[in-house]
Amino acid sequence: MQTLAVFNPHPNVGKTTVCANLGHALALAGHPLTLIDFDPTGDLSTSLGLFRPPSQGIDQVLLEQATLEAVSISTRDEVHLIPAGKQLSEIAEGAVAGMGKGMLLQRLLSAVSSDQEFLIIDCPSNADLLVANILLAVDRVLIPLLGDQEGSDSLPHILQTIEKFSKARGRPLDYQFVMNRIPVRRRLTGVAASKFSGLAPGHFCKSVICQSEQLVEAQKMGRTIFEFRANSRSASDFTQLASELMQRGI
Ligand SMILES: Nc1ncnc2c1ncn2[C@@H]1O[C@H](COP(=O)(O)OP(=O)(O)O)[C@@H](O)[C@H]1O
Ligand SMILES: [Mg+2]
Repeated sequence: MQTLAVFNPHPNVGKTTVCANLGHALALAGHPLTLIDFDPTGDLSTSLGLFRPPSQGIDQVLLEQATLEAVSISTRDEVHLIPAGKQLSEIAEGAVAGMGKGMLLQRLLSAVSSDQEFLIIDCPSNADLLVANILLAVDRVLIPLLGDQEGSDSLPHILQTIEKFSKARGRPLDYQFVMNRIPVRRRLTGVAASKFSGLAPGHFCKSVICQSEQLVEAQKMGRTIFEFRANSRSASDFTQLASELMQRGI
């Protein structure tokens, strides 16, 4: 099983959108996977149509009160979801003892059922303790990055974070950026990609995710783009991203 965190410390850059739609694209390509909603807001769960997510999820697993299997829900063919759970916000605030030890999650993830090919984690935006646990545990990180000034300004700090965790792990943290919300009309995809890729050569996906209101609509309705508009540009963006990541070894 390969583990991937969808990470960016900034909110609203598309982490949850990427998790839900990349996850479904991989599942539709025949790869069973588990998604973990690691954000106390529960956004991934609602994006997948669970408007009242169960009160128990990854929180109980972190507290060693439940196994991953016990809190895992089947949401689509080949897509399992582990919701955040009510206590995740307390854990994020450091109100629960024991979670400072960053290796706990790594140990827990090794218990995921072996029929799952991928485990993809939707990171929270402002929860250092949770993010530390995640970045110490996963094989790789996928970083959605906005193709604007804000995106390029945020890049040095993100690279520092990756470097910091690579050191803490004692083994490099593989990372890949994927550009999100690229305007389609202006045919900016190539320009934006080349401008940004110089900032971290070799670490940008060729695939980009274009700006699309259909992604917003789908998310609001609790559906993935494959359920909302299977023949859209956005659906093909995510299919391409999934196949690029699979070729690379996620
Ligand atoms: N490519 C895109 N085009 C248009 N809207 C997008 C795109 N990606 C994300 N969004 C929207 O931006 C908002 C923030 O996205 P989200 O995935 O929740 O970000 P994060 O998880 O990083 O906070 C949501 O309303 C989402 O629908
Ligand atoms: Mg989110």
